[in-house]
Amino acid sequence: MLSKKIENSLNEQIEKEGYAAQLYLAMASWSETQGYDGISQWFYAQHMEEIEHMLRIIKYVNERGGHAIVPKIEQPPKEFEGIKQIFEASLEHEQMVTRSINDIVGLCLNEKDYTTHNWIQWFVDEQLEEESSVNAIIDKLNMLGDKNLYIFDRDIMKMRDEG
Ligand code: FEO
Repeated sequence: MLSKKIENSLNEQIEKEGYAAQLYLAMASWSETQGYDGISQWFYAQHMEEIEHMLRIIKYVNERGGHAIVPKIEQPPKEFEGIKQIFEASLEHEQMVTRSINDIVGLCLNEKDYTTHNWIQWFVDEQLEEESSVNAIIDKLNMLGDKNLYIFDRDIMKMRDEG
């Protein structure tokens, strides 16, 4: 059985994963309207991953005797400044999610909930992977400069397959 504190923090995390899903969906849609098909595919895939993260937490909370609450989700921005900016905003967002996961890890130790502590390690690993894949994209964008976005757009899904 989950403690109320852990249950509440997981419910907050459900909302954060849900917002991430919405944010990436907005980024996918915006990049599609700008003609960047590869980048938009990358963000659509990212959106689906965040939905999976949200479901993973919902299932866990309910399995452990809590009640997962389906959150109201804030509307993400409609417009973005540019390709590099959306990846920088994604990185910032992932760093925020990592801090939030780490806070739950800390809470699990305080509450001596070693089951949830063990379960949430998947998210700890996932955050490491997400931050490093966005970092690799930003490095590549810095190398290419603004002129070669066509090639970047064509190749970005390969970076996903390799990662
Ligand atoms: Fe589910 Fe990208 O954090």
